[in-house]
Amino acid sequence: MKFLIINGPNLNLLGRREPGIYGQENYESLCQRLRAFAAAHGSTAECFQSNHEGAIIDAIHAADGVYDAIIMNPGAFTHYSYAILDALKAVGVPCVEVHISNVHQREEFRHKSVTAPACVGQVCGLGLYGYEAAMGYFLDQKD
Ligand code: DQA
Repeated sequence: MKFLIINGPNLNLLGRREPGIYGQENYESLCQRLRAFAAAHGSTAECFQSNHEGAIIDAIHAADGVYDAIIMNPGAFTHYSYAILDALKAVGVPCVEVHISNVHQREEFRHKSVTAPACVGQVCGLGLYGYEAAMGYFLDQKD
């Protein structure tokens, strides 16, 4: 399978950003881990990160017909980006939404995802393992 891993705002700061919540591992290490996980399953994973809503929308559009699945952590855009919701609905690539932290144990505004309705499902609170769990879901579906 061809996976596109999209990470939204501030996730480039993984390892430095609130490590008590998001852990010590940095963004590049996460990408290496996901590429290795994909390769171990006869698949590929490309990582894309942006702090800009429009760039994420462009990446979702460009994924259509190119990738088999999107794994996306939209960061704070999760909670208010109807434009990302619409972009996911506009393309034929299935997406699983990932949150590193358990958003339901945090501030009220993080409890709501406006983007999840356009996703197959959502993983939250499992740390960086959540990205692999999401990939594992798609790999199981394929078998
Ligand atoms: C996050 C949770 C969001 O509420 C937050 O804005 C993030 C990261 C997570 O992975 O837990 O940037 O998506």
